[in-house]
Formats: sequence, structure tokens, C-alpha cells
Amino acid sequence: MRTVLLDAGPVAHLATGDCSKPLTGSMMSSDSLVDSSNLGFVIENGIFTKIAQTEEIESEYGRKDSISLHGRAIVPGLIDAHTHLLWGGDRSDEMRLRQQGKSYQDIAQLGGGINYTVEETRNLSVNDLFKKGKSRLSYSLRNGTTALETKSGYGLDTESELKLLEVANQLKSDSDMDLSLTWLGAHNAPPEIDINTYVDQILSEQLPAVIEQGIAKSADVFCEEGWFTLEHTERICKEAISKNMEIRLHVDEFSDGDGLALAAELGAKTADHALHSSDQNREYANKAGTMQGFLPGTPYVHGSNFWPPIQDCIDNDYAWSLASDFNPNCQSLSLPMVGSIVTHRMNIDPLAALVAVTRNPASALIRDDGLAHGVIAEGASANLNILRGTKIEGWCQTPGDSPFGTTICNGKFYNHE
Ligand code: NIG
Ligand code: FE
Repeated sequence: MRTVLLDAGPVAHLATGDCSKPLTGSMMSSDSLVDSSNLGFVIENGIFTKIAQTEEIESEYGRKDSISLHGRAIVPGLIDAHTHLLWGGDRSDEMRLRQQGKSYQDIAQLGGGINYTVEETRNLSVNDLFKKGKSRLSYSLRNGTTALETKSGYGLDTESELKLLEVANQLKSDSDMDLSLTWLGAHNAPPEIDINTYVDQILSEQLPAVIEQGIAKSADVFCEEGWFTLEHTERICKEAISKNMEIRLHVDEFSDGDGLALAAELGAKTADHALHSSDQNREYANKAGTMQGFLPGTPYVHGSNFWPPIQDCIDNDYAWSLASDFNPNCQSLSLPMVGSIVTHRMNIDPLAALVAVTRNPASALIRDDGLAHGVIAEGASANLNILRGTKIEGWCQTPGDSPFGTTICNGKFYNHE
């Protein structure tokens, strides 16, 4: 099956240099990332097979069976490299508790937080979870996401964690989106046991069961004061690494606990939140090739104005990315919304923010078939978004609404208009 697209407006192809590497510093804002020369595309079997001037493609394939893009701006399919897609219940009432001055930790101690969601999630059947996941994925796709990482972490016992991964795996087969599965059994101590006993149980029972099923590509731990210590995190990750799992961590969300340094030491693909990490650890992580995955939706919903130091990372040439962190406490799967937060509130360049939700997360989230994604290039998987407008910057300037008229996801068209 062949699709021919003509008459593109500006195309943020982002395919400068070695596309398997993240872009850093001023390269994230370089004019060389955008081509405004009236491009056209040929897509065959889910791959860009030709990208050239409209005139050239038209002379080869004709206009009659082609689709005109009418000068609209084009960006790659977005990549959401940190989500908690599957959970039940509703914690929207925690907003009022936050407004009364209660912290995330206080709310957890009052019976809210992760363990509240665990109770609600354990009660759901595979079918209920699948339906929730499917509807959430369609929202994510409407907002331009074509690849998504999703974590377990609201089961917290072997059977329930495996159930969440099994549902995520069913969604992966069902969806045109590219899903990557992460086991996050070490998200919280479950209601029934203390954290040290739980870590022992993870190592003796839960992680071996996950490994045996071969269902999760990566392992994650919530490494934070009051949750899993550096020592817990190291023990769990070393075991996972020895069985060829990749590491993606939650670190330094509420305070600097040197989680970012441990992530670097372990060779983690990404260390996410990394909100309170020290400058020294940021430098170390960058040298080790660990991506700092910023999740500004979290301080946003917490009512905080303490944002990740993105401009510092740009000034220091550190690799960074952005993701939604969709979870019961941060209920948005919209990467354009994340782009709005960093451009409208943190003065970050919209093109740099776009790189942070495409090429950069792609470099740390390799597809199973090995095809390039997060860029628009010949030989890459055919994922792109057609904006409603004609300017690339528009990808993140419609907070609360999707800026995209159409998304092409692995070669398949989704019209949102
Ligand atoms: O990344 N902080 C740890 N995990 C999630 C939140 C989980 C929850 O509150 O349910 C996060 O923000
Ligand atoms: Fe998270």
C-alpha cells in the first residue's frame, strides 16, 4: 500500500546528523531541523520511502491519487516516554487536600496516593483495564503521540503486576501505536507489608516471574526518600540488568537523594523527574548517556512553580527529554500541553521542546523492529502529525486542545477534524 503526500508547509524533520543520537544545546533550535521548501512524501508499508520536492514526487507519481497537505506544518509523531497508562479509581478529590496545604506525602499517609489507586486497580478485570487503556490511547493519539512507554505499578503483588503487564501487552498488539512496556513493581510498598519485606519479595518472586514471562522490556523503581532507597534501587536494578532488562528510573522528584547519580552508575536509559538533582549529578548523567526525562506536568498539577532546569541543560549541552507522566495525579496524556507548559511558563524555544518529545526520547526508546522514529527521514517509520496551522511553533500553542488535524501512525491515517 502506497500513500503520496504533496504540498507540505514547513516540515520539522529533525533529521540532522546521526538520528540515533539525541540533540543538545543550540542544535535543538537549529534552522537546519526544518525544511520549508515545499516537500512531498511517499509512504509504503509504514515507512517513508521517499522525501523530496513536491514537483519531483508529482512527476513520478502524479497528483490524481495523491493527498495535498495544503501548506500545513508537519512534525514527527510524538513519543511519550513516561506514562502510567493503566489504573482504576479517581483521585481528583486530592486537589482540595493540596489546596489545604497537604503534601503528596501527607495525602498518601491519609489513605490517598498510590495505595488508594492500588486497591481500585486490583479490583478491575483484565477486560475493564483493557477498555480504559484503549480509550486513553485514543486520546493520546489524538494529541499526536505515536509511540508510548507504559509502566505497571498499581498492582504491587506478583499476580496484579503481571495482570497489568498482560493488559499492556494486549494493547500493544491491538494498537497502531508503538508501545514499550516497563515493570514498576517497586512503585510503593503495598498496603499489606513493609517496604523491606516487599523488596525481598520482589527479588525472590515478582521480578523472576516478570522476567520469566519476558513481557517487560524495562524496569523502573520510584527512588525517593520515603519510598525506595538507593540500596533497594540498586539491588532491584542489578538483578533486572543481569537479565537484560533496560533501566528507566523515577529519581529526585521531591528532594535530591542522588538518584540521578545512581541512574548514571547503573547505565539507565533515562532518569525521570530529576527535578531536584544536583548540577554535578546532571553532568555525570550526561557523560554516562543517561537521559534526563523531565515531567513538568507533575509540578504543574502540584501547584508548584519549581520547574526542571531545562534552560541550564540547554546551556550545558545535556541531553534531556519531556514526557506526560500520565497517572491518577496528573491526568493528561497531551504532549502539546507539556509543550505549552515549557514554552508559556519556562521560556523554552518551541522547536527545542519539540525535539524533547520526538527525537530525544526516541534515542532512549528503541522500537522492537529497529526502525528510526521521532524524525521524518527516508527509511524511518511513517509517523507524522499534520498541524491545523501553517507554523511549526503551533504544535504547543493550543493548551487544552490538540493542534493536530491528522496523525499518521505507522503509515495509518487518523483524521481528528
Ligand atoms: O511519576 N512519583 C511516582 N509515581 C508517579 C505518581 C504516582 C501516583 O501518584 O499515583 C509519578 O508522578
Ligand atoms: Fe511517573
